[in-house]
Amino acid sequence: MSDIYAILHSPACTAIWEVRADEAPLWRYWGPRLPDGVVPPAPLREERPEPSFSLHHDMPLNLFPGIGMGWFGAPALAAHRAGRDWTHAATQCRMETLAENTLRFHLVDAVAELAIAITARLDPASDVLTLSTTLTNTGVDVLDVNWLASACLPLPPDAQSVLSYTGRHNSEFVPVEDTLSRSGWRRENRRGLTSHDCFPGALVRCADGTAYGAQLAWSGNHIQSIDWIDDGRRQWLLGEGFAPGEIRLAPGDSITTPEVLATVSAHGMDGVSQAFHRAIRARIAWPGGAMSPRKVHLNTWEGFYFDHDLDALKELADAAATIGIERFVLDDGWFAGRDDDTSSLGDWWPDPVKYPEGLAPLAHHVTALGMEFGLWVEPEMVNPDSGLYRAHPDWALHVDGRPRLTARNQLVLDMSLPQLRDYLFHAIALLLRELPISYLKWDHNRDLTHAGNHAQYRAQVLGTYELMARLRAAFPSVEIESCAGGGGRIDAGIVAHSHRFWTSDCIDAVSRASIQRGFLRFMPPELMGSHVGACPAHSTGRMQGMAFRSGVALPGHFGVELDLRHLNEADRDELAVAIARYKALREQFHHGHVWQGDADDHILWQAHGEPHDLLLHITRIAPTSWRHAPHLRLPMLDPDRSYRVAPEQGEPREIHGSWLIQNGLPLPPMKGEAVLIHHLTAL
Ligand code: DGJ
Repeated sequence: MSDIYAILHSPACTAIWEVRADEAPLWRYWGPRLPDGVVPPAPLREERPEPSFSLHHDMPLNLFPGIGMGWFGAPALAAHRAGRDWTHAATQCRMETLAENTLRFHLVDAVAELAIAITARLDPASDVLTLSTTLTNTGVDVLDVNWLASACLPLPPDAQSVLSYTGRHNSEFVPVEDTLSRSGWRRENRRGLTSHDCFPGALVRCADGTAYGAQLAWSGNHIQSIDWIDDGRRQWLLGEGFAPGEIRLAPGDSITTPEVLATVSAHGMDGVSQAFHRAIRARIAWPGGAMSPRKVHLNTWEGFYFDHDLDALKELADAAATIGIERFVLDDGWFAGRDDDTSSLGDWWPDPVKYPEGLAPLAHHVTALGMEFGLWVEPEMVNPDSGLYRAHPDWALHVDGRPRLTARNQLVLDMSLPQLRDYLFHAIALLLRELPISYLKWDHNRDLTHAGNHAQYRAQVLGTYELMARLRAAFPSVEIESCAGGGGRIDAGIVAHSHRFWTSDCIDAVSRASIQRGFLRFMPPELMGSHVGACPAHSTGRMQGMAFRSGVALPGHFGVELDLRHLNEADRDELAVAIARYKALREQFHHGHVWQGDADDHILWQAHGEPHDLLLHITRIAPTSWRHAPHLRLPMLDPDRSYRVAPEQGEPREIHGSWLIQNGLPLPPMKGEAVLIHHLTAL
């Protein structure tokens, strides 16, 4: 009987399906690694007698659950042909082994005339199971597709709660933990891009400490749901969200979903995050093939906003080079007529008043100082007050007869139009060819509306990916930062085209401490744009000292976003020290594993590296209410080894791993807002 099982193993995970020629593969197991050779004791249907008043044909959870043919849970597909052919159940299944860890299940629904190919790869390097689905209309009439899951995953009966993230501009990654019950759980994003308020992924905690995680590699609308099913397990569906009528497959046409990255860890949430980090790292196309140390940024936005003055910017660059900045990013405000946010998006050439000789004098000034030069763009947008809009009002997304709704005074361009993408490619390519630009900050400052008349949400995402890929192919040494009003486009899909995320427009260090923790659940620290902002913080008005601001930014991709020319000497010196500290520590912050925890009394910690060699980053975000500081318990350490625990200042101590695991690390008193770093090395 064991030949009916398809089994994939990675070092920490196992997935098992029961495969027959006349139905979709049944989900038998997805969980922590089982020993080689372990198979279910019996086919699933033999283990479960028919319950009263139930169908004689038992229909358990499978990889592609249908509708109307005995599966009463949520379907992976909702589609029809003018009201017909909406019942779905695979009638044939053929399994193909594409590689040692990659299977493709070729399903046919001979009645509804559909072909479905589901690709499943369990990556041994990351422990991430990647799933995607291709649906082909093999009938003779158009197939309307309302929903097509990228993946249907099983969760065990002891799954207790699901942690997902909400938020808004200036407040990304707000954690929401919902108890799982017999009622359904659902998160849906209809904003047209990844969004601030609905990250396309979640983590699930089980009673035994196991954790599951999944994220959709997509920068558009998405849906995920978790539903209890009749055998006590739960099904987790993730996929793109379609607008009505958006996907109409002509006979012979196909659609391939975005991928889902899913993983499970017996070591809880940190194990899940570490697997995600490995998988995300493998998806990034670094210039030259490998990540170089993440350069310290100076971004002009909060220091200058739209008020660009060439001499002042040169002075800023001089001051930046003096304290060790490595990349100078000229943000919004540089292009034709852009004096505020009411105009000019689309007119991608330098403003002739601010930059009478173009950007070359500033760019060359920056590079002559030994820094790289980066430039902000927002290609998918247009202001009605712009040359581009006046020439091509039809290039903006619109619905005939409806008002063109603006946000931040701008409209969204229809990225499905090849002539628009050509215009944008040539406008940006001209800048990249003529100037020493090695970095683009690619922004997207509003939600989508009107994606209905002719362009569609999906086409919008694919058009953007295509433009980014074309630019990357033409200028392979240029890195791209994905920004959308801060962290509105952080996802595993755009990772294939970008190298950094702008995590949030909120640079207030207390707020950032929690935003960054949510980010790190899914993405590795080297992609996390984290800047030192001004005091008071522009987004919140709160005042924080330089040591705290720079300490919170330290583990990410570090940068500075303030007018350095006006820093007092003490702050400037402290910032220079922080930059040197970042340069000394970035290799360890940006490689290896990340663990996160908290220790009550407003203390958060994260550890970076390997269990025998760790940087421990400890943040106090509010004053203590305890007489004695809590101890930090560090579960990732080796209980059989002793550790050298070295604070940045002060004498190192030797403490046994088992003591640090069970009792924890004693902490010195810390001010109300403070960061401490310890280096732990196994002896
Ligand atoms: C939103 C971004 O998040 C900011 O960093 C900045 O680039 C502005 N847009 C510029 O308009």
